[in-house]
Amino acid sequence: MRPTVATARRFTVLALPGSIRRNSYNRMLLRAADDVAPVDIAIRHCEVLPEIPLFNEDLEADEKLPEPVTKLDQLVAEADGILLSTPEYNQSIPGVLKNAIDWLSRSTNLAGKPVAVIGATSGRWGTRLAQAATRQTLMATGAFVLPGPALYVSNASHCFDVNGQLLDMAAREGLAAVTAELARWVRTFHDRGEHAGRAALP
Ligand SMILES: Cc1cc2nc3c(=O)[nH]c(=O)nc-3n(C[C@H](O)[C@H](O)[C@H](O)COP(=O)(O)O)c2cc1C
Repeated sequence: MRPTVATARRFTVLALPGSIRRNSYNRMLLRAADDVAPVDIAIRHCEVLPEIPLFNEDLEADEKLPEPVTKLDQLVAEADGILLSTPEYNQSIPGVLKNAIDWLSRSTNLAGKPVAVIGATSGRWGTRLAQAATRQTLMATGAFVLPGPALYVSNASHCFDVNGQLLDMAAREGLAAVTAELARWVRTFHDRGEHAGRAALP
């Protein structure tokens, strides 16, 4: 008899940057997750944010939603978890990110989805206030926001090299810890057979 080979399930985590800037540190931070995330997690990078129009209920009344909005919603639906990295603008959540979450809140795909929030800033305080505002907004969507571990990357210009590689060891370790915990939540939800909107905390 042939031995059975256990095929491990690979989960998809959608990496969502809260910045559309070309050389965004937050996008670089998410790219670094490719290197440090557990092996059963595949990171899928979301590039659609620059095309998302400003939220307007009139657009919802149109026959078809804007294509980038549908694409973003689909990416969220297909993901087992979300890793969101936000900058801080004027001590709060950037408009592009809030706008994207407002669109996403119009479907149920974020509800019951594990979401880890991290952030990077060139400033000194590591996006604490932006992350708090992002978590508050996500709570309204029914997403399950991880309470920790936290990752606040400050002085970001000193953390990456010219190629966008994350060199700062503390940030790398913090990112590894966040992705490990997100993976644990994702696995737990999967093992319990839980679905959007009715999952229980691990
Ligand atoms: C309008 C504006 C407001 C900002 N406000 C803050 C702030 O309140 N706190 C902070 O830490 N950084 C602040 N910053 C710095 C940004 O967080 C920093 O530019 C960051 O690198 C942007 O993220 P990105 O590199 O992913 O594009 C601000 C930047 C801009 C342009």
